[in-house]
Amino acid sequence: MTVAQIFDTLDYGPAPEAANIANAWLDAHDRKTALFVGGAWHPPAEGVYFESINPATAKPLAHIAQATAPDIDAAVAAARAAQPSWAKLGGPGRARFLYALARMVQKHARLFAVLETIDNGKPIRETRDIDIPLVARHFYHHAGWAQLIDTEFSNHEPIGVVGQIIPWNFPLLMLSWKIAPALAAGNTVVLKPAEFTSLTAILFAEICLDAGLPPGVVNIVTGDGTTGEAIVGHDDIDKIAFTGSTEVGRRIREATAGTGKELTLELGGKSPFIVFDDADLDGAVEGVVDAIWFNQGQVCCAGSRLLMQESIAETFIDKLKARMQTLRVGDPLDKSMDIGAIVAPVQLEKIERLVGEGTAEGATLWQPDWARPTEGFFYPPTLLTDIGPASKVAQEEIFGPVLAAMPFRTPADAVALANNTRYGLAASVWTENINLALDIAPAIKSGVVWINATNLFDAAAGFGGYRESGFGREGGREGMFAYLKPTFAKKLAKFPRAAAAADPVPAAVAPAGSGIDRTPKMYIGGKQSRPDSGYSRPVYAPDGALAGEVGDGNRKDIREAVEAARKAEAWSKATAHNRAQVIYYIAENLEARATEFRDRIALMTGETKRSAAKEVAASVDRLFTYAAWADKYDGRVHATPLRNVTVAMNEPIGVMAVVCPDQNPLLGFISLAIAPFAMGNRVVAAPSAAHPLAATDLYQVLDTSDVPGGSLNIVTGDTGSLATVLAQHDSVDAIWDFGSPDGGAAVERASIGNMKQTWVSHGCARNWFDAAQAEGDEFLRKCTQVKNIWVPYGE
Ligand code: NAI
Repeated sequence: MTVAQIFDTLDYGPAPEAANIANAWLDAHDRKTALFVGGAWHPPAEGVYFESINPATAKPLAHIAQATAPDIDAAVAAARAAQPSWAKLGGPGRARFLYALARMVQKHARLFAVLETIDNGKPIRETRDIDIPLVARHFYHHAGWAQLIDTEFSNHEPIGVVGQIIPWNFPLLMLSWKIAPALAAGNTVVLKPAEFTSLTAILFAEICLDAGLPPGVVNIVTGDGTTGEAIVGHDDIDKIAFTGSTEVGRRIREATAGTGKELTLELGGKSPFIVFDDADLDGAVEGVVDAIWFNQGQVCCAGSRLLMQESIAETFIDKLKARMQTLRVGDPLDKSMDIGAIVAPVQLEKIERLVGEGTAEGATLWQPDWARPTEGFFYPPTLLTDIGPASKVAQEEIFGPVLAAMPFRTPADAVALANNTRYGLAASVWTENINLALDIAPAIKSGVVWINATNLFDAAAGFGGYRESGFGREGGREGMFAYLKPTFAKKLAKFPRAAAAADPVPAAVAPAGSGIDRTPKMYIGGKQSRPDSGYSRPVYAPDGALAGEVGDGNRKDIREAVEAARKAEAWSKATAHNRAQVIYYIAENLEARATEFRDRIALMTGETKRSAAKEVAASVDRLFTYAAWADKYDGRVHATPLRNVTVAMNEPIGVMAVVCPDQNPLLGFISLAIAPFAMGNRVVAAPSAAHPLAATDLYQVLDTSDVPGGSLNIVTGDTGSLATVLAQHDSVDAIWDFGSPDGGAAVERASIGNMKQTWVSHGCARNWFDAAQAEGDEFLRKCTQVKNIWVPYGE
């Protein structure tokens, strides 16, 4: 080809990255990997290996060890043995190791990048410029958290041994997101890479050895889903951290329910990419390229749903098609490729099947007219139009280079469409109107919102989802909390079970208007309402005398209370100042009736009047505390290394259920119900089953304190069964259970429908008088979720 011809066509020439060093590394291992356990290499106990291929060529790369139960036992034992001294080393000591790991990742950056590209199929441009630099950044950032741990996370300690299971789409990056915070916090880990992409984890284990990391601190076990299951089910693991499909996340939630294992899940997404009519359309087209064709669309936060304002939709689609025509799909080692190979045949088949189902449902398919490579597993950039918001391709995570496009009319339509998904991981908003962008960002239910940008990540900004995209954050301060627990936790006493076990025989509620009905009803939607069952539950004093009766709440009462809470959205939008005022007012009104509440508590629980008075006083005090917090639990502005303002906002989770203990029936209730209420959640509370009358006495206090109807609802009854019904309800976004006799096991199990967040007692009783364990930061963190809004600046 002549220079003149090159000027004519402006075609890219080949720019291949050599794979010789990576191949030499594989050859040096005889193309067979081992398990990294206790700082040494071991063959798999059962001697089984599976093949890992290069998806760009379909040729085998290496044989990977399949870890089975005995290997997991050995890895967990090594991690357990190493954990106390790793924790004892202290933050600054651990920081040195994390820093060394960061340096070594940088030193071997090119080998990591090439290995990742041949193993995963993603373009070298991405592994070299995005994945591996972010890995190093993650270790540096967390070396910093380790250094500061004593001051920034005082009164916290490591959770212990953590099982970590990661996916194949960002193999080394996901490893760093898991290992860096866990180690910084003083935990030891057993990590399993995904079966398609184990190689960079093996190389990482080698740099752990080079860095002199104490044996057992990091253990890498390779294998498939059965290996993952063995980790999840292992008795001596204290926490599971998982990234992958929502389906497997759901199975893990079920398997860990009631075991006391901590859990964080980073799951799927179907993120909206919203283009308003005043957006820079050419910039937005480049945004789409990055949103859905980065990493072949195999990105949990991929902008896979394009929402365009109707007036520009046609123009935008034309521009997009023109751009798609110029995208280059092919050899991922070629530095001028935009799109590489799909990770595995099974994933390619899934993409083809879902696209087929989309077109069968009536979608119009458009792909560039150039041919995709025939060797390896490639799929062209694909645009689907003419689809309804409920269609399969608009709802299901395709996890491939497929964009589903839909028009919208108004900003309100855009928000409604954006939120019309079970997921909530990310969103991208394109407009030149900053007021509009900042109005839309909080309205979208997702953990990240990028304004005029997409797929920006940094270790300083927590990443994670709302709804079925999972719970917990990775990165930032909140990501560190996911690997720490309060030091008081191990000292908590076990629940006195007998107190909660009493299940009194219900009696018929006296008919309305008979003049003899003293039974407090439910408090739903700001009104007192009769139990659906028509039955009441006797409440007995400790001496066996009847202290009163309360409604025996059932599934229908819960449904109504949740519906009332769902409708009371205004509470979540009320200003923090207004919320504080309402809570101060409740405190004031409770204080005015302190004697009455004191007597009621004394009668129900058998406490002395003096001690009951203390409980009322502490309850008033706790109300003042949360009134104070209401306008002070601020977000942050993160120092991410890009040219943007990254605003981390603490948002209410939505509708929250709280199930209260029998101990200190008023103080326990106030502690659990008012923290979420103060943060703008709408609450459905089930008060103590044995001593509910202090909560039902509160109705009049709430009525006279300007509490908006539906923002705080109270359903009395058997807390065990109410908790399960609340946990099953798909309109409940999170549930705290400190009242069920089984310590919340049933709640964890029942929560999988919408993958709601759970916080349960695990059968341990808190001292509700002790501020360290009964109020403040831990509570506020558990009833809010962080949304990071990235706003780039500059022309
Ligand atoms: P997956 O969720 O099955 O795999 C993720 C990890 O979990 C892998 O390490 C796997 O070995 C492990 N695993 C599988 N079954 C397990 C079990 N029962 N217990 C414990 N660990 C288990 O994802 P897969 O099959 O690779 O991909 C299927 C779909 O999942 C994709 O098409 C995509 O839609 C979605 N996905 C989403 C990701 C995300 O980051 N949101 C990442 C990877 C996949």
